[in-house]
Amino acid sequence: MPLPKAELHLHIEGTLEPELAFELAARNGVTLPYADTDTLREAYRFEDLQSFLNLYYELMAVLRTERDFEDLANAYLARAAAQGVRHAEIFFDPQAHLARGVSMGTVVEGLWRALGRSAENHGISTRLIMCFLRDESAESALTTLDAAKPYLDRITGVGLDSAEVGHPPVKFRAVYEAAAALGLRRVAHAGEEGPPEYITEALDVLGVERVDHGLRCLEDPALVERLVRERIPLTLCPLSNVRLRTVDTLADHPLPAMLDAGLLCTVNSDDPAYFGGYAGDNFAAVHRTLGLTEERLRELARNSFLASFLEDDEERRARYLAEVEAYQFGDAVS
Ligand code: ADE
Ligand code: ZN
Repeated sequence: MPLPKAELHLHIEGTLEPELAFELAARNGVTLPYADTDTLREAYRFEDLQSFLNLYYELMAVLRTERDFEDLANAYLARAAAQGVRHAEIFFDPQAHLARGVSMGTVVEGLWRALGRSAENHGISTRLIMCFLRDESAESALTTLDAAKPYLDRITGVGLDSAEVGHPPVKFRAVYEAAAALGLRRVAHAGEEGPPEYITEALDVLGVERVDHGLRCLEDPALVERLVRERIPLTLCPLSNVRLRTVDTLADHPLPAMLDAGLLCTVNSDDPAYFGGYAGDNFAAVHRTLGLTEERLRELARNSFLASFLEDDEERRARYLAEVEAYQFGDAVS
């Protein structure tokens, strides 16, 4: 049995496996510029974030109907459940779909068909976080928030993703203020490729409660001290960092030093179909390669539930935390 964990940094569009991409392409009459799944997998060699994003957005062409989004989410939830995920806070990128003529309703209703039954079908509680694309305009983000208003009972929070450098958090001040006024929780990608100043800005200007990635905080000791003092969770994604060359190799990943510094780190998969592993695979990799002890892994699992947006269901959070404390490690760790 794998270690129980929450996944807090997961782009649902990044769970599109090549097999499902081809199945949906056939169903929707979409032609992909790859001969087969092997050829497509060969394209999974990335130089940086942008080179990944190009493929990530290209493959979204196969997602057209509610059923497509439902199938995508169910495929993720089944894989996540097998790797010990008990709670998932799932990002989606509506602007990438609206731009292709796929409506907000199609995306949210489709995802909800899977998420609404996830606790019964997969044993995973879920939350949905709508991300704004930071390489699109601030006006587009405001229009997107407007389009989401009929679905706010299904959306817990907002996030900020896509190409980071040159698109500082301050660009999205107005839409985050509007989201806060609507009672939405706030997170943002910061310090993945962008500088530590973007992390500070995400905290001070956008009012985020959690930082996605946040790796580059290490360049600013005062910022690290603040993140520790204010108990700001960081949603790290070790296999993603290797594939997008944010770190040279997994052995160079600063996760152990970050835990030693007292940072509230969590381990997540980001875009597992593209980066070689789901949540449990990331746990197994940091155990194997970084030599994290079982108690460190338990700390990461505990952190994932502490950092999750379960304030509306503290009973459930307490149950999950009790599962983490009672967990007995076996031979294989994941
Ligand atoms: N969109 C999907 N994955 C992302 C990542 N790792 N960083 C920024 N935007 C993303
Ligand atoms: Zn991400």
